[in-house]
Amino acid sequence: MSVEKNNDWQKLIESAQQGYNNAYAPYSKFHVGAAAMTEQGTIVKGCNVENASYGLTVCAERNCIAQAVIQGQQTFSAMVVYTEQEKLTPPCGACRQVIAEFFAPEAEVMAVNHLDNRKTWTVAQLLPDAFTPKNLLEQ
Ligand code: THU
Repeated sequence: MSVEKNNDWQKLIESAQQGYNNAYAPYSKFHVGAAAMTEQGTIVKGCNVENASYGLTVCAERNCIAQAVIQGQQTFSAMVVYTEQEKLTPPCGACRQVIAEFFAPEAEVMAVNHLDNRKTWTVAQLLPDAFTPKNLLEQ
């Protein structure tokens, strides 16, 4: 299922906001929510989860994808990253690699904020020439 309808993006944004509300970010105070649309058209949420050891922090996007995988979903058509920052939050480099593992290069990722400012990228724009499972198959 592709996310072509505004309605689907709206549902993803609302789910990413719900994820945002569960963020555990007592150290950075930088709360992030994410939501992904699975191939079946279901939505999975995520939030960032920090840790007193700092380095064990996991971003909202990666927690969202892990949550979906735990639920048996491994293919996605779109993701939304929600923050309440004036400057939109793009996925970090580590998250781009994990997104490229499970999303097609043409799938879309949208950053949205509380002002409803939006920016959309394809996965290929976020991580051109990504190293993916396809590289391993070509051995
Ligand atoms: N963070 C995310 O959850 N996603 C991003 O795309 C950028 C960064 C989190 C990690 C950390 O908890 C906080 O934001 C500050 O870096």
